[in-house]
Amino acid sequence: MTAQIIDGKALAAAMRAELKDTVTKLKTKGITPGLAVILVGQDPASQSYVTAKEKACAEIGIYSDDNRLPAETSEADLLALVKRFNADPKIHGILVQLPLPKHIDEDKVLLAIDPDKDVDGFHPVNVGRMVVGQKGFLPCTPHGVLQMLLRSGVSLEGAEVVIVGRSNIVGKPLANMLIQKSPTGNATVTVCHTRTKHLAEHVQRADIVIAAAGRPGTVTAEMVKAGAVVIDVGVNRVEDATKKNGYRLVGDVDFEAVKEKASLITPVPGGVGPMTITMLLHNTVQSARQAAGLL
Ligand code: GUN
Repeated sequence: MTAQIIDGKALAAAMRAELKDTVTKLKTKGITPGLAVILVGQDPASQSYVTAKEKACAEIGIYSDDNRLPAETSEADLLALVKRFNADPKIHGILVQLPLPKHIDEDKVLLAIDPDKDVDGFHPVNVGRMVVGQKGFLPCTPHGVLQMLLRSGVSLEGAEVVIVGRSNIVGKPLANMLIQKSPTGNATVTVCHTRTKHLAEHVQRADIVIAAAGRPGTVTAEMVKAGAVVIDVGVNRVEDATKKNGYRLVGDVDFEAVKEKASLITPVPGGVGPMTITMLLHNTVQSARQAAGLL
């Protein structure tokens, strides 16, 4: 079997078109959704993520307030900026790009963001809301993965899902979302990580495999059940002398071999990545609607 490719770019484009319509309608009511984007330092991957987020905002009519700060920025100055945006009625979402430089306490900064402007869904209040199934902002990458599955017609009802990776940004929240008692949940979820014994045995059981380990080659064809759905969240730079910039992007899945065994698979790039940014736009628009009393 050769897998059908899930086209993240096309799914994201369809969702962004819907969001653009919503923003246009909000503007007729005098509401422009606003996102504050804060990047501290010059990490190249973070710079390219932030640029992509700002570009996506502009494309659908969201106002973005771009803040690129030097690596030496103090924790106090960063906290003061977050506070200023918490109080700014033009701003409905605050995104602090992670990782932060070592001298800044990441947890302290995330806690300082007003949970009702926390469009990344990283504040412990939103994490708690998600775990108990209350309304709140869902973190963008796992929410993007969920939307990809749903919009590709994959049923989660009783499905065996194996997630490889237990990060706070992907693995842990995704596991929580997929076990919720809801039509968009009801899966049986196993979370594997670096200390898991017999990774292959777990993955072989899965109807749906989600790779979010941050390491190329984590999921190989031998591990995957024939006909499984494979979602690759990994974004890894590997050296490639044939490329102008000297590297290419690969996921955590051995794509060429696994696509011969899976029923559906996401590519890297062009898979989960475009969906992540789309969910950030979604959260920002929802936040603006909420602030205007429209939800
Ligand atoms: N760093 C890597 N992924 C993310 C993300 O989704 N949001 C933020 N703020 N930082 C990140």
